[in-house]
Amino acid sequence: MEFRTLFLVCVSKSSDPSSPRLLRALRRGCGSDMIEDCACARVVRADNQSDVTSSDRMCKGLIGAMYQLASNFSKFGSTFIQGCMERPLLLDLFCCAGGAARGYYEAGFDVVGIDNKVQPNYPYEFIQGDAIQVGKRLLATRTVGAIHASPPCQKFSAYRRRGQGVGSGYLNLIPVTRELCRESGLPYVIENVPGAPLENPVQYCGSSFALDIRRHRLFESNVALTAPECDHSWQKPRFPPATNRKNLRCTMEIGVWRIPLPDQQRAMGIDNVSLRELSQAVPPAYTKHIGAQLLVHIKSKSQR
Ligand SMILES: C[S@@+](CC[C@H](N)C(=O)[O-])C[C@H]1O[C@@H](n2cnc3c(N)ncnc32)[C@H](O)[C@@H]1O
Repeated sequence: MEFRTLFLVCVSKSSDPSSPRLLRALRRGCGSDMIEDCACARVVRADNQSDVTSSDRMCKGLIGAMYQLASNFSKFGSTFIQGCMERPLLLDLFCCAGGAARGYYEAGFDVVGIDNKVQPNYPYEFIQGDAIQVGKRLLATRTVGAIHASPPCQKFSAYRRRGQGVGSGYLNLIPVTRELCRESGLPYVIENVPGAPLENPVQYCGSSFALDIRRHRLFESNVALTAPECDHSWQKPRFPPATNRKNLRCTMEIGVWRIPLPDQQRAMGIDNVSLRELSQAVPPAYTKHIGAQLLVHIKSKSQR
């Protein structure tokens, strides 16, 4: 069972004569009594993972029933189907304040974040602890659809900027993270900075998403990801430098005190995070794009 929760929301006018009929037909369509009747919206949840086969059958039945009924019921004046989301659970290891998480959520995942530091700005379920230990526990106890991991990058970014020897005090958690991901058998993504020892990564760039940043980031995955190509050509000198230098910059500098935080947040496409959190974040646009590809992969596997 890949899906943690299936929501089927049907919105109709409360006085709509088709409502009871809609409910009956939906129950018939999915062969289940797991439909809650609310005043004018009905929410179906397939949370119970104890019976994998019947839940899976129910999900597929529901989706089929929904599409079939959408056409029938529109003629009775219902606003009808507003949305149907299958939201697999994604483990967000080394989550910080959830830059990456925001993109996966927007793509259609439920997200649980794990970080060894408390993260008051993380917008979804959060567990404080060691990413590998807690990750193993969650994989054993929850139905997880995919894993994203952003192990610390200081070792590789400091090395790149300042040369040999710098960064040697930092741990390289990429191998142990990769081992956890591979053992899980799930689709996974490991993110890091250029220069990090990732295997066959694809590179994302802010210029591909009309963001005022470049912020190249690498993503390793066991799913064949495609990244849009960089296009720096439209990023013209427009931004004041954070230093006393005169030349304008083509992109917004991130993580610097002399540039207002809201400007930096806008450039990254994230709000409600501190400067320190922002400086560590993955732009949500990247992971929304990746998340959509993971969902296609998960859905295609579940239909086989
Ligand atoms: C680069 S940041 C992650 C950024 C995040 N993906 C985002 O988009 O906002 C790395 C995070 O790993 C956390 N961290 C470092 N070692 C850890 C460990 N052993 N277990 C859990 N978290 C850890 C740090 O506290 C930091 O928040």
